[in-house]
Amino acid sequence: MKVKILGLGHALPDKILSNKDLEMMVDTSDEWIKERTGISERRIGEKDITTSDLCEKAAHHALLKAGVKPEELGLIVVATVTPDMLFPSTSCIVQDKLGAYNAAAFDLGAGCTGFVYALSMAEKFLLASTHKYALVIGADMLSRITDYTDRSTCILFGDGAGAAVLGKEEGECGIIATYLGADGGGAGLLYMPAGGAKLPPSEETVKNRLHYIKMNGNEVFRFATRIMGTVSDKLIKMAGITYEEIDYFVPHQANIRIIQTAMKKMDIGEEKTIINLERLGNMSAASVPVAMSEADEAGKFKEGDLILTVAFGAGLTFGGALIKW
Ligand code: ACO
Repeated sequence: MKVKILGLGHALPDKILSNKDLEMMVDTSDEWIKERTGISERRIGEKDITTSDLCEKAAHHALLKAGVKPEELGLIVVATVTPDMLFPSTSCIVQDKLGAYNAAAFDLGAGCTGFVYALSMAEKFLLASTHKYALVIGADMLSRITDYTDRSTCILFGDGAGAAVLGKEEGECGIIATYLGADGGGAGLLYMPAGGAKLPPSEETVKNRLHYIKMNGNEVFRFATRIMGTVSDKLIKMAGITYEEIDYFVPHQANIRIIQTAMKKMDIGEEKTIINLERLGNMSAASVPVAMSEADEAGKFKEGDLILTVAFGAGLTFGGALIKW
């Protein structure tokens, strides 16, 4: 018995924020952003759009592709660091919007690794329960917590949501291995200082711009280039395969230089690597599932293909999954 991805879907806001737009907002240039990150533009949600709206849209597409009805779902996990509100969880809001009344629902916070964490949790849940189907969503609207006066972060992030419907099936295809990890010692490298129990919202926190993402880009970059290789090596070993057998590599879309370092280490070429950050930037927990959904929509994944996905993010967290399509 394996847990398979039965359907993928994604949702993106219509509004485009280009590098040229950012040139008007902070001291930066299209050339610098492209060269140092590989990003040209990203999508930003209009004021009236929330994370749960993007989740709902992505989920509808995934359910349709899977041929699964909302009421057949036993679990909904939304991986996000930008929930509609601190509580209730965005997954409960999504459950209601979909009419998925038989599903347990919770949010999961693992930064950009969130979707991979959620995939692994839902896989274990399905294998250990009588439920047949689960919905896993990676969704973030980092534009809501991005400081558009900070050129070192505002050039990176975009909004989006990606969803996968999982189901149990007999046979060889499905999730073969997952590997998750964390290094809480790096918590201070990427975080939002205020708004939680430690620094509740106050005039002071707003004045000091503490409700925005703070990041030590260089340290995160160093961590990312190292950990992508470590996670991939673990998964390859766990599955007893070689890198040559990988058909597609779906990395977290943070920076083209991080992706290229990983590709080089694994000797995986461009034709096998799914990259969408040029158009969409870093969408945090949504990056991996949107990339998978777009690749699937383009007809890339064929039955039996081996897909390796690896992510890292705030926490610091890291993880990956090996999937036989
Ligand atoms: N435009 C122009 N110049 C800039 C900009 C900008 N947008 N941003 C920084 N600079 C300047 C710096 O001030 C610095 O100038 P100085 O030399 O005069 O001091 C110079 O460019 C070099 O700065 P670095 O920070 O060393 O630039 P780097 O090439 O490392 O790129 C970046 C910075 C893009 C942030 C990179 O470090 C990175 O991608 N890090 C990883 C970030 C990441 O992946 N984060 C997401 C994690 S996942 C999650 O959970 C959200």
